[in-house]
Parts: sequence; C-alpha cells; structure tokens
Amino acid sequence: MSKQVNIDWNTLAFNYIKTDYRYISRWKDGQWDEGQLVEDNKLNISEASTALHYGQQCFEGLKAYRTKDGSIQLFRPDENAKRMQRSCQRILMPEVPVEKFVDACIQVVNANEAYVPPYGTGATLYLRPFMIGVGDNVGVKPAPEYLFVVFCVPVGPYFKGGMTPVNFTISEYDRAAPYGTGAAKVGGNYAGSLYPHQLAVKKGFADCIYLDPMTHTKIEEVGAANFFGITKDDRFVTPQSPSILPSITKYSLMHIAKDYLGMVVEERDVLVDKLDEFKEAGACGTAAVITPIGGIEYKGNLHVFHSETEVGPVTKKLYNTLYGIQFGDVDAPEGWIVKV
Ligand code: PLP
Ligand code: COI
Repeated sequence: MSKQVNIDWNTLAFNYIKTDYRYISRWKDGQWDEGQLVEDNKLNISEASTALHYGQQCFEGLKAYRTKDGSIQLFRPDENAKRMQRSCQRILMPEVPVEKFVDACIQVVNANEAYVPPYGTGATLYLRPFMIGVGDNVGVKPAPEYLFVVFCVPVGPYFKGGMTPVNFTISEYDRAAPYGTGAAKVGGNYAGSLYPHQLAVKKGFADCIYLDPMTHTKIEEVGAANFFGITKDDRFVTPQSPSILPSITKYSLMHIAKDYLGMVVEERDVLVDKLDEFKEAGACGTAAVITPIGGIEYKGNLHVFHSETEVGPVTKKLYNTLYGIQFGDVDAPEGWIVKV
C-alpha cells in the first residue's frame, strides 16, 4: 500500500514541511553530475560558498496538481527551467538543461507522491528548485562548484484567505534597481523586500507593491507576485518593466484573457495615480495564484477597486479558467501541462 501522511489538506498554509526526498545534483569541472534523490534535508557546504557571502544563488517555484482522476501534473515547468537559465546567466552560474530541470521535478514529485494533496482541496505540492554557488572561495568571483536542488512542500494559499481580497500598500522602498537584477529570480531581491514587507504587515496590509525604481510613478509588482488590473471596458492590463520578475502566471493569464475570455490584453505602464482606470485588480503568481486586490493604499488614501470583501466577476473568471487548466478540468493550450 502506498504511504499515507497525516496532513489536514484543507487548512494548509504556505509553510515548510519536511517531505521525504529531494533531488540534488553537483556541477564540478564544467559539468553536472547525474543527480540523485536523497533523504537528508541538510546541505553540507563550505563556509566560503559564494551563496553565503555574495548572494550567488537563484531559485524557482512551480506546483504539482492532483487531477480529478488522481493523476498528477505540472504547469509549464519548461518555462521555470528557462527562467532559471536566465537567472543563472545574470549571476554567472552554470545553466541546468531544461530536460534535466523537468526530470528532477518529476523525480521529486514521484518520490513524494503521498504529499501531493487530493483533488478538490485546492492544495498543491509546491516545488522549489534552487541553485547555490559552493566550494572554497573568498574573492568576489563566481564559485568553483554549484548545487542544483529541488525540494517540495504541500501548500495552501500564500496570502491568507486565498480568493478573498486583500489590501496592499505602496512601498517607499525599491525591490530592484533600474538596471539591476529585478528580472532574475535571485535571493538578493527577496532579502531587500523583507523589511518593506514587514512595514506593510505592521500597517495591516497583506504586502506592499513596489513602484518603478527610476521614477516612482508606475506600479511594478508585489514582493512575490505580479500585478494586473481590469479596466472599466474589460481590458486586461499588466505592467511592463525590465525590473519586474517575468511571471509565468501573468503570461498565462494574458493568454487566457485573450484566447479564452476574448479580452483585449495590454502590457504597458500602469501609473499609480491613475488607479481609477481599473474596476478590478489582482496579484498573480505561482504561490499567490490569483489574489484579488481589495484596495491599494498610496500616500494615506486607500483606493478600493471592486470591493474589499467580494471578488470581482472578471477576476473570478480568470481564476476559474487558470485553476481549471492547472487541475486538469479545462483544456490547456498545447504544451502547458506535463504529466508526472
Ligand atoms: N514576482 C515575484 C517577485 C515573484 O517572486 C514571483 C513568484 O515566482 C512572481 C512575480 C510570480 O511569478 P510566477 O507566476 O512565475 O510564479
Ligand atoms: C512563487 O510564487 O513561486 C514564489 O517564488 C513566490 C514566493 C514564495 C517567493
């Protein structure tokens, strides 16, 4: 009989739980080794690893979904693999081939099958691939060796309440510099976001939203999700900027809005003092899925979109279609779903 785990799937939040196996592969002398599944969740690395001193590391986030027939599927894992390659290029780390990345994810899901939440609970198995520079090195230069690891955690909603609206506040801080690493999924961007996030939470908000670092007039993104708005004439609008993380969920929603819902889609500047062009707004990402935005606080005023308590109808339709595709209930565009 397959393993049973004692988890209340319906009350899962976004917290670490140690699962049974993780994948680990080492890059040395110019190549990746075969990689293997291990039980130990501790890494034994040199005190002089570049990941520890110079932030030479990057990560990804994607999910495994249990479908109605009990099978398991991944959502666009090749896009995470390609984004990780771009992150690696930016901070001089070796790239993991797309096939190796996807295969590692599949191995980890299969080895931890008991932790993939049942269909209907809304919970998923979150996969966290990451790479760190390791080995003995003290000067500011790329590491001599790298570890590529994939672990997994069963998760529920990232923002409390899932599909109930939350409020955000505009931060006075930047998460990324104009020509910096904002478009790469590197840890340093997140270290810089911890303090503004804490300030936002202390003020009673779910998180903060960052403005463009050059002019502080345009919405960039949330600390861990992209932004979208629905205009009064039903256009799907999302910011375009070189310093935000290119969200796979955002690009998927742009496709869904256009091809499934027949909406006009615009990727362009979103001015923070023109928020009244939107009747609905949301945050989107792998962890956040779609989190409706009730209101945004800016310079002491709370701008409320559809409602602080109810989800708007367009956001609901986008969510249902995305969720349906991810859990196998709605036909996906070609290549979006990878069966485990
Ligand atoms: N923006 C940031 C800063 C993120 O950390 C994430 C999460 O990955 C996203 C946006 C959403 O990206 P994705 O939809 O690819 O998960
Ligand atoms: C994700 O959505 O996968 C993220 O990486 C967001 C956050 C947990 C860092």
